[in-house]
Amino acid sequence: MQLKFYGHSCFEVSIGGKKILFDPFITYNELAKDIDINSLSPDYIFLSHGHTDHIADCVAIAGRTGCKVVANFEIHEWLNKQGIANTHPMNTGGKWHFDFGTVKAVVAQHSSSLPDGTYGGNPMGFLFMTEEGNFYYSGDTALTMDMQLIPRWVKLDFSVMPIGDNFTMDVADAVLAADFVQCATVVGVHYNTFGYIKIKEEEAIGIFSQAGKKLWLPKIGETIELSS
Ligand code: NI
Ligand code: MN
Repeated sequence: MQLKFYGHSCFEVSIGGKKILFDPFITYNELAKDIDINSLSPDYIFLSHGHTDHIADCVAIAGRTGCKVVANFEIHEWLNKQGIANTHPMNTGGKWHFDFGTVKAVVAQHSSSLPDGTYGGNPMGFLFMTEEGNFYYSGDTALTMDMQLIPRWVKLDFSVMPIGDNFTMDVADAVLAADFVQCATVVGVHYNTFGYIKIKEEEAIGIFSQAGKKLWLPKIGETIELSS
């Protein structure tokens, strides 16, 4: 399965010919200034929560492409008010069979409000279960015991997790999270974008390596192949 990184927590995965974009925050990310959102043509956008650094470009991309946006119920309602009609509401604990596979919404330990102050519901992570492989995008989250439920539902090929500390897990907690979800291949996100979340990349890769795990830190615009 291929994953293309667009900076911060934004990435795109292709499954069954469908392009699935997560947490678009590109235009306002100084580090992603070489990416033009008009070059993106996703079939789906999945939003983990309502914070600006996860949805800033959602209305522009969904408005232009007509792609389906999947988010919690409150964000779905807010998007409808912004003129984005092709949405699918979910909430934690539920799953849905999409045309590329099944997605289960899981607990994330964080907060969620929308850019205009509207209540943003609860943050979520997502489990993707598809014929091409299975993965977990945790969204912004603390390390939480709920992650230990995940191996009961799915055997993961890789996980995408925040590692930047301050707002989310740090590298050490992400290693523990990888243990909880029983997945040794992690794509690190949510680091270096702002002053609060600067990390030392080589050190982070080393910490994962010492724990017998692989940490991928793709460059912005880079596509990596994650085997399943
Ligand atoms: Ni957040
Ligand atoms: Mn965030």
